[in-house]
Amino acid sequence: MTQQHRGKTLHLARNSGQLVMSPAGVGLIIQRQLQHPPLFAALASLQGKQIARVRTVVVRAFDIRTMTLQASIDRRSAKAAHLQAHGKSELCLWLPERATQLRLLARWRIITQDVAEQSKPDFIIWHKLWQSHSLESQNLFTGPQPGRPVAMRRHEPPGTAAAENRDTDEPSANFAVLLGRIDSIDALHLASNGHQRYRHRRIADQWETLKINA
Ligand SMILES: Cc1cc2nc3c(=O)[nH]c(=O)nc-3n(C[C@H](O)[C@H](O)[C@H](O)COP(=O)(O)O)c2cc1C
Repeated sequence: MTQQHRGKTLHLARNSGQLVMSPAGVGLIIQRQLQHPPLFAALASLQGKQIARVRTVVVRAFDIRTMTLQASIDRRSAKAAHLQAHGKSELCLWLPERATQLRLLARWRIITQDVAEQSKPDFIIWHKLWQSHSLESQNLFTGPQPGRPVAMRRHEPPGTAAAENRDTDEPSANFAVLLGRIDSIDALHLASNGHQRYRHRRIADQWETLKINA
């Protein structure tokens, strides 16, 4: 690591120690991280009643006012089914430059094409996130159903093969936005002079903050 990097990292880490103390500070951390994409996170979900699953997703947008996150998913994926059945789960971010882990417990809602067609605000979110994708990323949504054995491809319903000469302005019917309203934050900042851990919980329109043992 060069001196400049180390200086920046030290500054970010010190700054993060302050920011994790409040939900607004955590919001600022997420907002600033999104200025340097991609922002990877681990998303948990519940399969059935007993099996917890986790996978990497890219956080693509964040509204600091409502503390709401956006990620893009395929509506045919297992995680979509899990989160439709049980919409509350954690998204975990590890931010090494900030020596900070953010565990964001969110209530998830999925904006599919059907949902977008029923609500103008949802349509705007769905369409805007689609347009922010590169052509290569857009093409991922026009392929065969994710998670299905390749040997079963000939049983795929029509229209699941990659569409050629598609209108890229028009989102694929498989494209969905995962919208997560953060209900609770567990923020852990690691520091040589003592780790710090804060829990922020949304109660109605207010946030309650507790400093807890790290
Ligand atoms: C670096 C990385 C980034 C990823 N980003 C996303 C993403 O933004 N959205 C997504 O649906 N899957 C993403 N994936 C794939 C998921 O981790 C997962 O493998 C896939 O979505 C199938 O998950 P599921 O079967 O549990 O639904 C990413 C994978 C990696 C390795």
